[in-house]
Amino acid sequence: MNRIEQNSSLDRVGDRLQRAVQATLRPQRVRDLLHGVWLGHPLHPAMVQVPVGAWISAAVVDLLPGQRRAATTLVALGTVSAVPAAVAGLNDWAALSRDQRRIGLVHAASNTVGLALYAGSLAARLNGRHGSGRALAYLGLSAASLGAYIGGHLAYKQGAQVSQSVSELHRMSDEWQAVADLASLPQRELVTREVDDVSVILYRHGDEVTVMLERCPHQSGPLGEGEVQEIDGHACVVCPWHGSAFRLNGGEVVQGPAATDQQILPTRVVDGVLQTRIP
Ligand code: FES
Repeated sequence: MNRIEQNSSLDRVGDRLQRAVQATLRPQRVRDLLHGVWLGHPLHPAMVQVPVGAWISAAVVDLLPGQRRAATTLVALGTVSAVPAAVAGLNDWAALSRDQRRIGLVHAASNTVGLALYAGSLAARLNGRHGSGRALAYLGLSAASLGAYIGGHLAYKQGAQVSQSVSELHRMSDEWQAVADLASLPQRELVTREVDDVSVILYRHGDEVTVMLERCPHQSGPLGEGEVQEIDGHACVVCPWHGSAFRLNGGEVVQGPAATDQQILPTRVVDGVLQTRIP
């Protein structure tokens, strides 16, 4: 896995595929739909449950006598549902960092081989060649399992599509802490402050102040250097790195590639001093 992460020879293919994915999956609303912005959760890992469940079930049913029709149905379900899951995965992949894209490329290649083997298995079964269909399905399951293993590395070791900001909360104490004099905060401008070495942004609108973690949940971009934009009638901070947008009055993600909300911190004002702490 480490060698794949450092293998720059994968970048020629990866960079071309990234451009093709970005040119094909447009406009931004389509990308947001596939990232899972509407769900507040990455969509790809949820979608893969259907093909994985159907294919594993088919592998079990294939061991039982008189279950050819059930096995064919499960293989068909898994094969058809794998296509939109793969499209959502490609959309996520195109917004990853380069080392993550290298692993993601191998993850996608394994799963594409698995999908092709299952398509062959389905064709064989529909033509009455159930022995070949079974063999191809077991090969497909092996390739898809390797793909899942590599996907686990991408998510759990490399942190792809995992919120990069929320772990910051573990470095903050649960005491109220002063962050600014309320009177000194400018209206409708982003101000960056540190709380227990954790960077937060402050945004004042009237007497309401939002305190939000500064690290973007997508890839740790500095939201404090982002722009404030009105999106769907709400003031949002737009990440300067890849354009994810979060509502400043609640932290909800409204534009990807981030698929998770940004963490807002509770506030109170004591003697004109704005205080915050972990939720
Ligand atoms: S770091 Fe990618 S959108 Fe913020």
